[in-house]
Amino acid sequence: MKIGFIGAGPVAQTLAKHATLAGHQIVLSNSRGPESLTPLVSELGPGVSAGTVKEAAAQELVILAVKWWNVQSALFEVGDWKGRVLVDTTNRVASIEPLALGDITGRTSSEIVADLAPGAKVVKAFNTVPASWLSDFSSSKPKTAFFVSGDDVVAKNLVSKFIEELGFYSLDLGSLAEGGRLQQTGGPLVGVNLTFNDRFILPAVD
Ligand SMILES: NC(=O)c1ccc[n+]([C@@H]2O[C@H](COP(=O)([O-])OP(=O)(O)OC[C@H]3O[C@@H](n4cnc5c(N)ncnc54)[C@H](OP(=O)(O)O)[C@@H]3O)[C@@H](O)[C@H]2O)c1
Repeated sequence: MKIGFIGAGPVAQTLAKHATLAGHQIVLSNSRGPESLTPLVSELGPGVSAGTVKEAAAQELVILAVKWWNVQSALFEVGDWKGRVLVDTTNRVASIEPLALGDITGRTSSEIVADLAPGAKVVKAFNTVPASWLSDFSSSKPKTAFFVSGDDVVAKNLVSKFIEELGFYSLDLGSLAEGGRLQQTGGPLVGVNLTFNDRFILPAVD
């Protein structure tokens, strides 16, 4: 698959590395334009290129990996989201110092993302685990479990297949409203380091 990333920070870079190892082609983008990504593209190697946000959003699978306060401007840059599969990795962190969560007034953060990208088939995934937990790029890496939530079954299946091609395990939580609430920041599944090896394993807590 050709996969576009909106955002090129740790989340995009880590997923891009796993994805190229699985044979996917990557288009990275940021707000500063493709030239600013030249050093990163050479570091990541074959299979990775840089493009505009619109070019990234034109790929078969689009992964949104920007900070919560940049979500609106990044999505508005694209304009037409109709029919696109949009993976929402974001966490609704409105401020880091001091830590504050964005106001979502009773909705889930991914429903808000879906409102800002009308017509997109939004799937929430990859947000519950810090990118630093995914630094094993070997084929024998732990099968980290990623939760997926979304309202479009075909889009959700595409994302689940992608997760498993990367060597991870995909767990469907249901809709953006129900599953999204469990896996969004403030929900019970954030920071849960669940892995799968014949059965699910949770690390022991001291
Ligand atoms: N870091 C983690 O471990 C982790 C894990 C799970 C989920 N998350 C969530 O995933 C998201 C990304 O996290 P991150 O740590 O990778 O963030 P980050 O380090 O802040 O990287 C964000 C990227 O987005 C780009 N960007 C900013 N505004 C943009 C715009 N309007 N259009 C396109 N690109 C834009 C930035 O580049 P420019 O400033 O150059 O444009 C940068 O490349 C966040 O919502 C975070 O809460 C993070």
